[in-house]
Amino acid sequence: MKVQIVSDKQAGGQAGFRVFEDALQNGAKVLGLATGSTPVTIYEQLAASDLDFSQLTSVNLDEYVGLNADHPQSYHYFMQEHLFNAKPFAHSYVPDGSDLDAAKATSEYDQIIAENPIDLQLLGLGKNGHIGFNEPGTDPDSTTYKVTLTDSTIDANARFFDNADEVPRYAYSMGIGSILKAKQILIVAYGEGKAAAVAAMIQGPVTPDVPASYLQTHPNVTVILDEAAASQLD
Ligand code: GLP
Repeated sequence: MKVQIVSDKQAGGQAGFRVFEDALQNGAKVLGLATGSTPVTIYEQLAASDLDFSQLTSVNLDEYVGLNADHPQSYHYFMQEHLFNAKPFAHSYVPDGSDLDAAKATSEYDQIIAENPIDLQLLGLGKNGHIGFNEPGTDPDSTTYKVTLTDSTIDANARFFDNADEVPRYAYSMGIGSILKAKQILIVAYGEGKAAAVAAMIQGPVTPDVPASYLQTHPNVTVILDEAAASQLD
């Protein structure tokens, strides 16, 4: 794993932008995108740039089950606001959270990923070491599936909702196996709250207890951290 330490989120946005720029220059056609607060500064840089995404495809990691695309807390909506309004792609895929038929929604999404192999996958990191919504204990070979969110993830995401009761309990997420198929992975984490997960991801054993630790098995991973997130690394 290539680790890059930056001074703050703004510098992380610029560093992340350069990873996208290089990937595009090297012919990337399919970008795997993520939500959460971490990628926002990268999206700001991408949205303000002169990069052209109109011939590219984006595939998002995950979506809450039960939220329509126009719900302000849906990941569809997030992507519109933070990137797609400024930079439309030829095709943008996000799991369909309005489809309550999990078997259908997840197999359709696997088909989309199979038809659009991801060149560069952007990831944030959960405090408990999750990637996408792959919580501790997830099978490393998993493809898209319906996830029961842990209490820690529900609490962490409650800040975006009026109260914790409104946070959906389920999500559709790409599996760890789907994520590891991407040719290149960029994972970003900021703040002291992520420091333990960062250390476990990079220096701990590869274990289902820390889903992000499986990134150690991938040949092309870039990690962007601020100093607080890097503070528990040796
Ligand atoms: C959510 C998302 C993840 C994200 C994580 C961290 O659970 N499903 O994709 O990485 O939160 O979010 P944040 O970047 O806001 O810390």
